[in-house]
Order: sequence, then structure tokens, then C-alpha cells
Amino acid sequence: MAASLVESGEDAFRKVFKFYKRRNPPPDFSNVLDFSKGEGSNKVVPLKLDPATVSDAEAARVGLRPVRDWTAFELRGYPGFIFIPDPFVLGSQAFWVRQCLKTYPRKPNVCNLDMHMSPSDTQDIWDRSVPDLRLPSSGKRRPDTLLERLRWVTLGYHYNWDTKTYCADRRTPFPADLHQLSRHVTAACGFPGFDAEAGILNYYRPDSSLGIHVDESELDHSRPLLSFSFGQSAIFLLGGLCRRDPPTAMYMHSGDLMLMSGQSRLLHHAVPRILPAPRGHASSGMESSSRVSSPGDGSVVETPSQEDWEACVGYIRSSRVNVTVRQVLAPGQTFPGASSSHRGTDVGRTGGNHDEDGECGKRKRSRDSET
Ligand code: SIN
Repeated sequence: MAASLVESGEDAFRKVFKFYKRRNPPPDFSNVLDFSKGEGSNKVVPLKLDPATVSDAEAARVGLRPVRDWTAFELRGYPGFIFIPDPFVLGSQAFWVRQCLKTYPRKPNVCNLDMHMSPSDTQDIWDRSVPDLRLPSSGKRRPDTLLERLRWVTLGYHYNWDTKTYCADRRTPFPADLHQLSRHVTAACGFPGFDAEAGILNYYRPDSSLGIHVDESELDHSRPLLSFSFGQSAIFLLGGLCRRDPPTAMYMHSGDLMLMSGQSRLLHHAVPRILPAPRGHASSGMESSSRVSSPGDGSVVETPSQEDWEACVGYIRSSRVNVTVRQVLAPGQTFPGASSSHRGTDVGRTGGNHDEDGECGKRKRSRDSET
């Protein structure tokens, strides 16, 4: 069944979702777009980015190659959708993976494990997982580490899965390094002044999936939604404004960036399947014998320690991490009912108050829904 051949109509997206999620017999992947291979399809259109928007030095400081060296694509029929296959400097993805696994899950950020565990137990997810993750893979199954039980982490304005809203008083500081990376990528894509205010990290095990949803809780939809993928690959489905529209399937490999803006900002999307990364992607493509930065160059990117990197590899050899970054409010905008000076206050720890695998309405985060 080719995704493009599924007719629009009730459940067309759901049918495609189930098709790619199926294990037995495995689906035919021949219609899945692979942007890393360039213009393999007449749906894929090269996009020229303006290299003057981000200086080479600014790009290097966050681990990106000069913008003139990126390849960027649009997708026919999806105005505002931009795909950039891995624009990272060799070796720098390792830093971002380490941040996603070690740094961002720390308090005061909020994660699914907060639902079931005490603050003292979720305080050191990384330290408690490292010894097992560093063990050489023996082929024997061991109990999952805490890190392998992580499903999501929220940053900045913490999304409330129950009310499907952000609000002023559930906010902690957004990581400065990720803010800088997001600002440069969005500027290169034609959105200067992007303010990264909320982030959702999704952690995928080999059998995980993410149900069909639209990201519409942000109050300003004129700003893009930005997505970074690391580790194993995924099939990403991009549908229409209406849930019934049949989606286009594409691979997301480690380092790939995706931006949904304009008419594509509110499209339905989903991740039905995680797939082994092709050779040269994921951990093998992240290592570099040279250091990615030198002290004093203003870089936010540093080479992880050997111990940290071994634990990261232990995790991403079977898993995927996706980070979506959002601007919630337009410049000068406030939350309904808040005073004009109240775009939100940084508070300490905020509680996670929703089910790990439960339905989240507009953002339905079921690992095995749509089946
Ligand atoms: C992805 O994992 O690629 C998509 C995540 C999302 O839609 O939030």
C-alpha cells in the first residue's frame, strides 16, 4: 500500500499509521521519502536559504555547519514545511544527545516519571542509569534503566496534558543552549527573532509510536514549530488540516531538522514507527576524533566525556529522541487574564500531572494508539 495511493476519506491517516506500524508482515517502505538522499521524488523541492542570516561563527558555536553548506527542502503541497537533513558539524550531535539524556531531564524540568515517583527518585535519572547503559550489549535483556523509562520531558512553559494549555505560572527557565540553537535554525529558515519558550522531548524505544495530533496549544501560530531528531530513525507522517487527509511518509534520521510554519503549522502528524538508523547515521555518524570546540571560543557545544558518551551510545543504540521547540506567545502577547507585564514567571519545580501513555487530546501521546 502506497501512502500516496490512500484516498482521502474517513480514517485515511489512521490506515496509513497502522500500515507503517505493522510488524507482521513488515510494510513496504518504498514510498517513504528520504530527504537524506536529496530529490528522490518529484514532491521534494530544493529550498535556497539565505546564508547571511546566521554567521559561520554563530552556527559553529551551536555545532552547526555554515548555512551555505546545508541542504534544505520543501514538500510540494505543504507550504511552510521545511526539512533540513543533518546540518550538524561532525561530532556535535553527541553534545545535543548528551543534553537530551543527561541535562534536560533534570529538575526543575518536568517528566513522565514524576507521575509515579518521588522527587528524590527522579532527581538523578542519569546517574542511576549510567552503570547499566555503559555495560557492553550482551544480547541478553536486562531490566530497563530509569532513562529507558523516560517518555517525555517538558521545558520552559510546561505543557499541561489535562487542560491542553500552557500557562504563566507553570514555567521554568528554558535551556539557553537550546534557545540559541533554535534561534539560529529558525533565522536561517526565514524567521528572525524566534523566542524558544516551550519544549517537549519525546523519548522513543524500538516499539514506541506517537499518535496523530496537531500542535495548536501555542497562542501564536505565526511562529514555526521546530523539531530535532537524534539516535535511531523514525517514519514521520505529515497529514492535512483535517484528520482524514492521507499523510505523506518520510524518514527522520539522526540530526535531521524539520520546521512546520505558515499553512503547515497546524497540520496533523504522527510517528508510527522507529527504525534502525542506516549506517553512518546515529552514533557512528556522531563521533569525531577532533574536539568540536575549544575553550574560549564562545561555543555552547563541548565534547562529552568518554563516560557520558558511552552511556549515550548505550541508550541511542536502540532509541530515538525528538525535541520540538515552540514559541508560545507573540511579542507583547500575554496569557488571557494575565496582566501585560505577566508573560510568565519562572517558578521552581512544577508537577507532572498526566498519564505517561495517556491520551492528551490535541497532542495524543499514545505509544500504541491508532491500532
Ligand atoms: C517526532 O517525534 O518526530 C514528532 C514529535 C511531535 O510531534 O511532538
